[in-house]
Amino acid sequence: MTSPPADNQDQAVTRNPLATTLAGLELATPLVLLSGCVGFGDSLTRVAGFSHASVGAVILKGTTLQPSVGAAPPRLVETPSGLLNAIGLQNPGVHAVVQRILPRLDMSQTHYIANVCGGTVEEYREVSAVFDDSPIAAIELNISCPNIKAGGIHFGTDPAMAAAVTAACRRVTSKPLLVKLSPSAQPIAAVAQAVTEAGADALCAINTVPGLAIDVHRRRAILGAGGGGLSGPAIRPIALRKVSEVLGVARRAGVPVLGQGGVSNTEDVLAMLLLGARAVGLGTVLFDDPLAANHICAGLLHYLERYGLAGLDDLRLQEDSAGTEGTHGGHKAQHPPH
Ligand SMILES: Cc1cc2nc3c(=O)[nH]c(=O)nc-3n(C[C@H](O)[C@H](O)[C@H](O)COP(=O)(O)O)c2cc1C
Repeated sequence: MTSPPADNQDQAVTRNPLATTLAGLELATPLVLLSGCVGFGDSLTRVAGFSHASVGAVILKGTTLQPSVGAAPPRLVETPSGLLNAIGLQNPGVHAVVQRILPRLDMSQTHYIANVCGGTVEEYREVSAVFDDSPIAAIELNISCPNIKAGGIHFGTDPAMAAAVTAACRRVTSKPLLVKLSPSAQPIAAVAQAVTEAGADALCAINTVPGLAIDVHRRRAILGAGGGGLSGPAIRPIALRKVSEVLGVARRAGVPVLGQGGVSNTEDVLAMLLLGARAVGLGTVLFDDPLAANHICAGLLHYLERYGLAGLDDLRLQEDSAGTEGTHGGHKAQHPPH
């Protein structure tokens, strides 16, 4: 093997081994702080030792057209290895987010991504259009919202509705468009396929898993909203499986995946990256460890060094050992470069 030219050697020395890209955004690290777990981008900045340098991007709380007070309390309950939440999309509305919150964020530190929700296709489109005319780096569509015109069926469980939302938002923004998939979609690959055909630049998987907790003494559901969304380590194996199913579609369409669901430490991040995710989300872990990204970055660097790997591009699962290719027609797709 011949030595690379000197200027390439210099590049190798200065290259950040944790750098990656997601839907055209250059991320300093593959770690993305997830929607609903960091407020509107400033909830962790007062934590001693917190630094955006260990974070590739931050996704803001779900935003609707009008302000929303959210669900009745209680909104959170701890479950075995998990967290059940029904926040109900409390937010000040897109105009307040753009006019009052975005100007306070230091956009030079990391990428800030909006999380868009709505009860109708029109609402998703309007909120996306307002964000398009803002300094936000990208738009993530949270298609787990119920479609009020279709009797409360979630947009994300129906491929045609998911595609309609994505296509409508695609028409009003040239910013990178991420679509966040629900584990309730059966099969999730069908929704992944529909939204990539409708113009999604990246797929995010998975959102929370529907759950319920009962207070046997008060003889009622614990959460004010009744049911909620389960997150945290309890959902991690489900997330890995769903991400592997989404990756089959994503590889064929040439779009990256932001893997998430119960990721709590370096090994969990590595599992997602080895599977083929381009970036990995941290959500519930931040309530327990706001500095998780710092620790995980150190762990990733240690892993790369231990196995003599130059960067995330070199992370590969033993060919098809997770059975992901077999699930999608036996096609032995190549892992795209990170
Ligand atoms: C308290 C809480 C609020 C959340 N709010 C949103 C939201 O507004 N929009 C959204 O797309 N996902 C929301 N999520 C889902 C997370 O972004 C993430 O997809 C999910 O929790 C799985 O990752 P995790 O297990 O690492 O938390 C929320 C999760 C939690 C725990």
